[in-house]
Amino acid sequence: MSRKIIRNGRIVTAVDDYIADILVDDGTIAAIGRNLVVGPDVESFDATGLLVLPGGVDCHTHMDNTFGDSTTCDSFESGTRSAAFGGTTTIVDFAFQRKDVTVLEAIERARAKGAAGACIDYGFHVIVTGVDDQVLADMEHAIRHEGVSSFKMFMAYPGSVMVDDAAIFQAMRMVGQHGGMIALHAENGTIIELLIKEALAQGHTAPKYHALTRPAIMEGEATHRGIKLAELAEAPVYFVHLSAKEALKHVIEARDMGVPVFAETCPHYLFFDDSAYDSEDFDVARYVMSPPLRSKDAQNALWTALRTDDLQLVSTDHCPFCMKEGHLGKVNQKPYGRDNFSKIPNGIPGVETRLPTLHNGGVRKGRISLNRLVELTSTAPSKLFGLFPRKGTIAVDSDADIVLFDDGERHVITAATQHSNTDFTLFEGHEVTGKVKKVFLRGDLIVDGEQWLGKTGGGQFISRGESGGW
Ligand code: URP
Ligand code: ZN
Ligand code: ZN
Repeated sequence: MSRKIIRNGRIVTAVDDYIADILVDDGTIAAIGRNLVVGPDVESFDATGLLVLPGGVDCHTHMDNTFGDSTTCDSFESGTRSAAFGGTTTIVDFAFQRKDVTVLEAIERARAKGAAGACIDYGFHVIVTGVDDQVLADMEHAIRHEGVSSFKMFMAYPGSVMVDDAAIFQAMRMVGQHGGMIALHAENGTIIELLIKEALAQGHTAPKYHALTRPAIMEGEATHRGIKLAELAEAPVYFVHLSAKEALKHVIEARDMGVPVFAETCPHYLFFDDSAYDSEDFDVARYVMSPPLRSKDAQNALWTALRTDDLQLVSTDHCPFCMKEGHLGKVNQKPYGRDNFSKIPNGIPGVETRLPTLHNGGVRKGRISLNRLVELTSTAPSKLFGLFPRKGTIAVDSDADIVLFDDGERHVITAATQHSNTDFTLFEGHEVTGKVKKVFLRGDLIVDGEQWLGKTGGGQFISRGESGGW
């Protein structure tokens, strides 16, 4: 493989900020220094005036995932290409264990999809929808031998993916002994189901009722319960897509007591609030994700928590559906729930907008530092999910996953120029300052301005180490 040098950029990691050259050899970083001397055979890239960041790591995406009757509209190919244009070079997506699909079969199927389509590197969490001795044995095997050390379990969606507390506890107890971690979707599913039934019985079918039937207090309740289960199981626990102040409160309390509790939030909870639901219009379906958007007050609390490390990372929960039925031939998209909000597929796109929106709305607004931005979007996810130091930093011997970012370039976000299959973005028309200019994946230039140079199937499955350590 050819050698490359990235000259004179401002290298920013979770802890560093300095100007230097980076020599890349055979996909990894071979040397970092000022005025490195190399031969004429080394291809040179001038990064003067640009930030040089470690490739983003997004630990919560849903490419080609099926929930109920609906499948997310991004394939591994389109979704990972979109991620790359947003400065992300590794995702951790989901493999689905179901009654008729074992944990190990789920990993095999997910890996096959990734191998065929992924344009960036990838790993998987397994969604576990039922626990018995075989499932537990397979989970242990997955941690030890398959490079899959994290598992998502749902406290919501009864009748489909929800599991009970005993199942969560059993799984936590097992993974805690073997270097794994349970990631929880924390909402009280049975109460939400009751509220949905009552709303529909009263003729409340509009998308806004999605939010009204998923109260913040029930995210708080489930989060508290999840923490107590983890404490009893003596296992670390991770909360996905944390949105409510009522949930954050319990995470902060537990962490202050030294309990290994971790949580992510997502850009949509940081930039949008529940005023989006103040309409009976079906267009509100674009804001249907779970948990729903919360109050402005909650939003401020999330920003504070990012600064104080009460929240450790920002993932996107990229779970894209289309607003227009039939867009690119996709069916059962958002309009599937036109007459019944509970049938609107839950989820929104976001894999391409994380870095520019957090840079613009976080760093430029003085809410988080540049180092913290890197930590939240690359280093912390790598450390927590067993990818570090191969991913998540710029250091000798790390993979040469490198993003050149112009922190002064203004541009307007629009779905029309994004690379996801979806037909909308919540950030439509938002002007941001800061743009991804070039992306290297293991030393290969895959994004050059607006040009795609990557390869379908060019992403590699990354066998992860233990999760839940720090
Ligand atoms: O609405 C959401 N978040 N959809 C994706 C599935 C999940 O719960 O993460
Ligand atoms: Zn979830
Ligand atoms: Zn999700």
